Amino acid sequence: MLKIENLRVAVEEGGEIVKGLDLEVGRGEIHAIMGPNGSGKSTLANALMGHPRYEVTGGSVTFEGEDLLELEPDERARLGVFMAFQYPSEVPGVSVANFLRTAVNSVREEELSAMEMYRLLQEKMRVMQIDPSFAERYLNEGFSGGEKKRNEILQLLMLQPKLAILDETDSGLDIDALQVVARGVNEMRGPEFSAIVITHYSRILRYIEPDYVHVMLDGRIVTSGGKELADELEAKGYDWVRQEFGAGTQS
Ligand SMILES: Nc1ncnc2c1ncn2[C@@H]1O[C@H](COP(=O)(O)OP(=O)(O)OP(=O)(O)O)[C@@H](O)[C@H]1O
Ligand SMILES: [Mg+2]
Repeated sequence: MLKIENLRVAVEEGGEIVKGLDLEVGRGEIHAIMGPNGSGKSTLANALMGHPRYEVTGGSVTFEGEDLLELEPDERARLGVFMAFQYPSEVPGVSVANFLRTAVNSVREEELSAMEMYRLLQEKMRVMQIDPSFAERYLNEGFSGGEKKRNEILQLLMLQPKLAILDETDSGLDIDALQVVARGVNEMRGPEFSAIVITHYSRILRYIEPDYVHVMLDGRIVTSGGKELADELEAKGYDWVRQEFGAGTQS
């Protein structure tokens, strides 16, 4: 479904960050990407979504056979690729419900009626244990960290993408919220849904069981395994990965 070959991504002020990355994600698969701070995980996610500050300088990315890199971010979204919009700031005057209505209709061929939209939102908010009054609040205005994350997964459930890229959706969540977020992702799970879950902790992977775990180091995926690799990393840290796969040990 998603095929990344020898991808290179640079940022203007930071030089090359992703340095020849390969990754294949099949239909229905959940892939976790772990790796030390600064290894390029978020840069990869941003490049996949077409963030303008991240310049692809080499390699290829195809999604269902289409050249993803040729497409504008909104076209990628319409193809069914999702990344939670992490607005750094609040959006006064735009309610959660309004934002979701616009987002959902922009990826659909046919717009949902107001009633259909309302029902869908109610249903998904129930799954995420979000209070109905939340829909009328302005986007991110005064949201707690956990509320922002729940809201991201609410977007996911509303948009029903084929591929979701979740960058540290688990950070800053309390134990209950972590389970609610995991439930949201698991609700999507099925033969038509794939995800790349970027995380620092194996904890969330106990709730969202990945099919594959990859370790990113210095702009590349250096080793991959099953879900036991996440526990191994948590127990042993990244030093052994650096020793085995770090700069100087490979071309
Ligand atoms: N827009 C940018 N401008 C300058 N440098 C950048 C930019 N984006 C990323 N970088 C640099 O690229 C490197 C990788 O950053 P990235 O955010 O991709 O790492 P990460 O693996 O997501 O780390 P973390 O685990 O801390 O989230 C860092 O050194 C970072 O400072
Ligand atoms: Mg990051």
